[in-house]
Amino acid sequence: MSYNNLILEIESGIAIVTINRPKALNALNKETLEELMSCLQTLKDSDEVGVVILTGSGEKAFVAGADISFMRKLSPLEVRTFAGLGHECMDTIEKLSKPVIAAINGFALGGGCELAISCDIRLASDNAKFGQPEVNLGILPGFGGTQRLPRLIGRGRASELIFTGDMIDAQEAYRIGLVNRVFPQGELLAAGREMAKKIMSRGPIAVRLSKDAIINGMEMDLARACAYEVDQFALSFTSDDQKEGMDAFLQKRPAVFQGK
Ligand code: CAA
Repeated sequence: MSYNNLILEIESGIAIVTINRPKALNALNKETLEELMSCLQTLKDSDEVGVVILTGSGEKAFVAGADISFMRKLSPLEVRTFAGLGHECMDTIEKLSKPVIAAINGFALGGGCELAISCDIRLASDNAKFGQPEVNLGILPGFGGTQRLPRLIGRGRASELIFTGDMIDAQEAYRIGLVNRVFPQGELLAAGREMAKKIMSRGPIAVRLSKDAIINGMEMDLARACAYEVDQFALSFTSDDQKEGMDAFLQKRPAVFQGK
């Protein structure tokens, strides 16, 4: 499928989705979000794809936010619909039944930071910069930043980023747990592919159920979340992969998972 604002490449089970508006630092306008939704739907339904990597075009930006020139002219009702579309994209990434890795290759600001934090894992290049600069525009984060950021890095740190609008570099983002790892820019995508390959070598059903338990469990209280985990754990015992994984361990050989 071809898109105006995205590039989708699928190779060896890894889908690389590149937001491709480099002249606007990959800012998210309505068309880009609509294409992202359609692309995510395709990836969700694809048996060929095991892991998704999300990145930005060029060496300067992952995504520099929602498109300010597009938003400037919107009425409150129109912007509500636009923010709804943004939320739909972030929710779809978060709930996608396969892991999504953000390969953050530059600015991840506003909606770009919100896009990154809706992914399961964040890898950053050493030139990446993060922030929620919306207060500088007289608005607030509108694609989930006020909710996902405190859940990820804690209320105090999230409040500081959101209230000051300050940008932080990749090392600081690593220090506060906003990103998992930092790489030299030239190594970022290879590192993403390496991680994707490792995840795909594990039991696919186990990975899928793990993501489901993490994402759904985080919205429950601890007792209900632990009960939910027990159910997902039991469900994994209905798979051939569980038998293969345990047999392989006991027979001291590598497991060959079929995803069944
Ligand atoms: N929307 C639209 N266009 C953008 C953009 C954005 N978010 N960010 C950058 N651009 C455009 C610039 O307007 C510029 O276009 P022209 O060449 O046509 O002038 C081009 O990208 C290059 O940008 P700069 O010349 O500004 O590059 P720089 O290196 O000097 O600065 C930057 C880079 C610090 C990222 C700066 O571009 C910037 O501050 N961008 C805006 C970041 C921002 O405020 N993001 C939040 C948006 S609001 C939001 O996201 C709300 C939400 O939660 C949903």
